[in-house]
Amino acid sequence: MNEKIENSFKDIFSVLQTARLYSEQHPQFKKALEKAYSSLQDVFGSFDSLVIGIVGEELVFQKEIFFELSKVLKPMILYLNQQGIERIEIRRQVTTDELVKFINCLLLPKAQNKVQIQEILTNSGVENIIVGKIKASSADIIETANLPDYRDTLDKISDPLEAMLEQKEINTLLLRHAINDVMERLVGRYQELLNLATVKRYDTVSFAHMLNTAVLSMYFSSRLGFSKVDSMDIGIAALLHDIGKIYISRKIISKPGALNEEEKSNIRSHVLAGTEILLGYAGSLGILPAVVCFEHHLRYDLSGYPKLSFSHRLHMASMVVSICDVYDALSQRRSYKNDYSPNTIYAIMMKERGVFFHPELLDKFFKIMGIWPIGSIVELSDLRIAVVREENEDDIFSPKVEVILPKDKKENIDLKDAKSYLSIKRWLNPLGEGKEYAALG
Ligand SMILES: [Fe+2]
Ligand SMILES: [Fe+2]
Repeated sequence: MNEKIENSFKDIFSVLQTARLYSEQHPQFKKALEKAYSSLQDVFGSFDSLVIGIVGEELVFQKEIFFELSKVLKPMILYLNQQGIERIEIRRQVTTDELVKFINCLLLPKAQNKVQIQEILTNSGVENIIVGKIKASSADIIETANLPDYRDTLDKISDPLEAMLEQKEINTLLLRHAINDVMERLVGRYQELLNLATVKRYDTVSFAHMLNTAVLSMYFSSRLGFSKVDSMDIGIAALLHDIGKIYISRKIISKPGALNEEEKSNIRSHVLAGTEILLGYAGSLGILPAVVCFEHHLRYDLSGYPKLSFSHRLHMASMVVSICDVYDALSQRRSYKNDYSPNTIYAIMMKERGVFFHPELLDKFFKIMGIWPIGSIVELSDLRIAVVREENEDDIFSPKVEVILPKDKKENIDLKDAKSYLSIKRWLNPLGEGKEYAALG
């Protein structure tokens, strides 16, 4: 398979090279284009899309870095680097016409950044080639290339939510389709999706929280081995888990200080209110969303709310969602002043192992997510600044990182191997002191 991927990389870059020398009508160009198109078709035999990543000076496909090929194609990689392109996604439906437009777009003299290129592509009707950055920092998100696309998905998710609030009929097919869309983009990119989901397009904090919880729950369930359909069902349930909160005054939800008893019981009412709404949709959405909504604050030891007078075993989906729910809520607490660093969140949640959360499930969660999420900016024990690139499942404290500062000390390090002399010293809040490094990462 690697050979097919390598060939398609080579052939695409060679079209680009040819286009710098010949016009679109030239037989050389046409030949190169045909070759690239046909090697892409070979790849599409096994994948829905080809995603070319450019990390530093290397070409990446999924988790594989093509070192040798990167050397050969170095001039092209540097060229794309200059254009600010770190990621090119070519979908199966791509046409030769779209490829030509894409190549032309890359050759435009003043295409300085990825936003412009993506804009030009979109405006010229190219739907199946998407360019952008691999890891967008939150500051970049609004301009991120994939956003127009993603906004569409957000609309498809928020429309039924709004309809539910008014107890109207909802288009469950559309909702499933949107969730499926999120699911398809999840592979290895959950962090990117989480960032996108926090865009304050809807001024409801709850919307971001519901969507984040859905993304996390789907990612977690699929990594746990649930089928795609089951993971999607859990995702929909997660999306709707806090729907009852819309009946609660904003003032209480966003109140910074401690809540009084009345306010607390008001907040707690979101569980029963939500369950009632969701039971109304059991015919179209099934019973799972109502079950998860009812159980999401019960806790593993049933010490939460609503109080039950009978013994009860929580549904697996509820236990998955409640871990993701709390994880996201703690992550959202981040602000300039209030740092909930990932290791703090880990410590807080582990304290509740077997109390709030199913113990093994919680272990599994951190095993999959690691302590330091991908994309985190951290300071190493030798004071260098690095970005977390990949988790090590068997050593959640020691991920693979890429040193970004000082610039002459750049390198990729597997902290698991370097454990005896190097570790993560602390996390840099991307909203605070980590902000200036986020662009470098
Ligand atoms: Fe809740
Ligand atoms: Fe929640």
